[in-house]
Amino acid sequence: MSMNVFIEALRANNLIILPTETVYGLGANALSDEAVLKIYKAKNRPTKNPLIIHVASLEEAMKYGVFNEDSLKLAKHFWLPAKTANSLTLVVPIKSGTKLSKYVTAGLDTVAIRVPNHPVALELLKQCNFPVAAPSANISTQLSPTQKAHVMLKDIPILEGGFAQVGIESTIVENTTILRPGIITKSMLETVLQKPVVISDGKVIKAPGMTKRHYAPQTPVVIDSILYDPATEARLGFGKDNQCTLNLSITGDIKEAVRNLFAYLHELDQKGYTRIHIAPLPKDQELSITLYDKLHRMIG
Ligand code: TXA
Ligand code: MG
Repeated sequence: MSMNVFIEALRANNLIILPTETVYGLGANALSDEAVLKIYKAKNRPTKNPLIIHVASLEEAMKYGVFNEDSLKLAKHFWLPAKTANSLTLVVPIKSGTKLSKYVTAGLDTVAIRVPNHPVALELLKQCNFPVAAPSANISTQLSPTQKAHVMLKDIPILEGGFAQVGIESTIVENTTILRPGIITKSMLETVLQKPVVISDGKVIKAPGMTKRHYAPQTPVVIDSILYDPATEARLGFGKDNQCTLNLSITGDIKEAVRNLFAYLHELDQKGYTRIHIAPLPKDQELSITLYDKLHRMIG
């Protein structure tokens, strides 16, 4: 299917699945109530959980959100066309008078915006004259898909974009608070802002989707696990490990582990194991916070 078919589907207020560098998204025209409501229905997502809008540039983003000095700095640094562009969602006040569907923001006075760093997604967004609302293309609370084969939503056309290079959802930032940890870390943000950044402790749920249980495979998961029964159970290893079913990173690279986590869990989830054990992963690196945030939600 050509790109045009997907753009036409969006124009007709229908859903599509689009690739991004983080995870595949379930996209709809963010200006249309009808289209956005289809997202909630397809995912079985509570309508009080707002969506991220995707645009091709900061210039487009500024049509929908109000950027202050800090959010401008972050957008200029992390979004295209900067070379460092990558996987950051900014929560900013909604610009008054925009025609965004009220269902995108679930009644909040802020909007979450991101410029994805994926050539196919950008090509799509450049050709749309509206922003694309897109949550991860999973059923609510299940694992997000990082490749086409792992999309479980039926009867929605999928725009192919290969294996997602980041492998987990974008970092979400509001002012100087990280609402959802991701591949863009606290220190990266602090370097750009030249001020302290805090990671939300989750007690006040600012990102309504950050409820405890999330991203979970159907098979029960055990984390920081040493022993397992190879007859009935699976083990996700890390680093040197001769016993594992799949290895998140043989070289012990945490970024590679982040990239492979959802994909490998998807794979093991299909195989009828009674349990998936995940080996202890590094706890002393910045990305450890991100990785363990995901893991704790699987057992939460
Ligand atoms: O990497 C990503 O961000 C992927 C790809 C497809 O772009 N999208 C994604 O969307 O992860 P979703 O819907 O699965 O997660 C969006 C999160 C939710 O936790 C939601 O509550 C939060 O963003 N969110 C959306 N708008 C918000 C707002 N105005 N204030 C605070 N949190 C918001
Ligand atoms: Mg999601």
